[in-house]
Amino acid sequence: MTEGMNRRNFMITAAAGIGAGMVVGCNSGRKISARPSINRSVAGLAVDPLDVVRIGIIGVGGRGRGHLGHYLKIEGTQIKAIADNHAPAALAAQKRCVDAGFEKPDIYTNGDFDYRRMLERSDIDAVMIFTPWRWHTPMAVDAMNAGKHAFMEVPAAVTLEQCWQLVDTSEKTQKHCMMMENVCYGREELMALNMARLGIFGDLLHGECAYIHDLRGQMNSIKRGTGSWRTLHHITRNGNLYPTHGLGPISQYMNINRGDRFDYLTSMSSPALGRAAFAKKKFPPDHMRNQAKYICGDMNTTLIKTALGRSVMVQHDTTSPRPYSRINLIQGTKGTLCGYPNRVTIEGRGGTHNWQDWQQCQKDFDHPLWKSMGEIAKKAGGHGGMDFIMNWRMIYCLRNGLPLDQDVYDAASWSAVGPLSEMSVADRSTSIDFPDFTRGAYKTSKPLGIITV
Ligand SMILES: NC(=O)c1ccc[n+]([C@@H]2O[C@H](COP(=O)([O-])OP(=O)(O)OC[C@H]3O[C@@H](n4cnc5c(N)ncnc54)[C@H](O)[C@@H]3O)[C@@H](O)[C@H]2O)c1
Repeated sequence: MTEGMNRRNFMITAAAGIGAGMVVGCNSGRKISARPSINRSVAGLAVDPLDVVRIGIIGVGGRGRGHLGHYLKIEGTQIKAIADNHAPAALAAQKRCVDAGFEKPDIYTNGDFDYRRMLERSDIDAVMIFTPWRWHTPMAVDAMNAGKHAFMEVPAAVTLEQCWQLVDTSEKTQKHCMMMENVCYGREELMALNMARLGIFGDLLHGECAYIHDLRGQMNSIKRGTGSWRTLHHITRNGNLYPTHGLGPISQYMNINRGDRFDYLTSMSSPALGRAAFAKKKFPPDHMRNQAKYICGDMNTTLIKTALGRSVMVQHDTTSPRPYSRINLIQGTKGTLCGYPNRVTIEGRGGTHNWQDWQQCQKDFDHPLWKSMGEIAKKAGGHGGMDFIMNWRMIYCLRNGLPLDQDVYDAASWSAVGPLSEMSVADRSTSIDFPDFTRGAYKTSKPLGIITV
């Protein structure tokens, strides 16, 4: 740490899990320096094509089960092994593979770190990580160090230090590290990407996105299940806990890490009231849910400025009684598209004071992937088909030696909104610099294409 850091900043830094490599400028927001690296960038990383993708899975709870179902349907995959520290979950997943007519995968169920024994195997190419948030980075780092490509659920990391660990390890090992942001494969999101690439919105100016999803019911999971570990984040952190569903697609429209990058953010949280009220209503006074102090503001609003001067609003609220929304608004000099409900206005296609005909827009700009495999994807399921398209596309890229649609720099910068928003909230919404995880490579990295196959 450098001079100029006062005690208040130090405490915030420590609380947010930020280590060495941070530079502080107290009067004008906080600056975070880039970390030097001697390794090659993994921007656009392409590796030898794999004939068959041999998979090891860590975590077969609610989410892992859904992904497993897809891998059993996608050609060119083999499930070699499954690790889950809850033996019944691993056994059920193993049985599912056998019932579907596949080879019986080995299982690893002996505690929190038994997955490391699975990583010693030489017959696994890709490790899919579907565990609680705090495990994503350590497991992905271990997987890459063991010579495997790492794929993990969202968010990829919960501290800035973890973000850097992912970047450094992917660069050191030259292995893929993809955070599986499924929303980037939603029908409306891919359509918007298609339109952005075709220049329909003109020059992009502004985006708005969110994860607004009333998940208070998860607090009913006490010993197992998502709410058993996710509720703890509401007790220990105050910021945007889950930024990537809304932000991933907006970042792709805007070429973040491929021409532009996140420069700085400022963040503000509302009071944290909803979870305590829910606990009071649902649990006895001496229950752990009533003993806890919930500190994460029910609604967090973060504003991001990009290096090219664009603005992005990203919100998080999993506590309030409010209909689901990711907002998904993208605005340019020639038009605007917005979700929840779907609306669009494009110059030259009708008046711009009102929303125009969405159906016509979808007819004109539906994404090629949704046109070709939308029906199969909807049948395979997973958030209306987006999960299947994502998994299919990952396997397709691995089998064809193509760069993945999301790389480790995306994983790091989209996830970094979590810890950076915590730092800003804790310091009167002061602006906080994003690290440039690409170490300058964003200036020359090729934009993601339309994704035609
Ligand atoms: N992208 C999406 O739309 C979406 C939807 C739901 C969940 N998720 C994400 O998926 C991840 C998993 O969520 P979930 O709802 O399945 O949670 P879950 O609690 O149902 O499942 C997690 C599984 O990981 C296992 N596990 C925990 N620690 C482990 C360890 N050390 N070694 C091996 N196994 C371990 C647990 O036993 C459990 O079976 C989370 O990151 C969550 O945010 C994403």
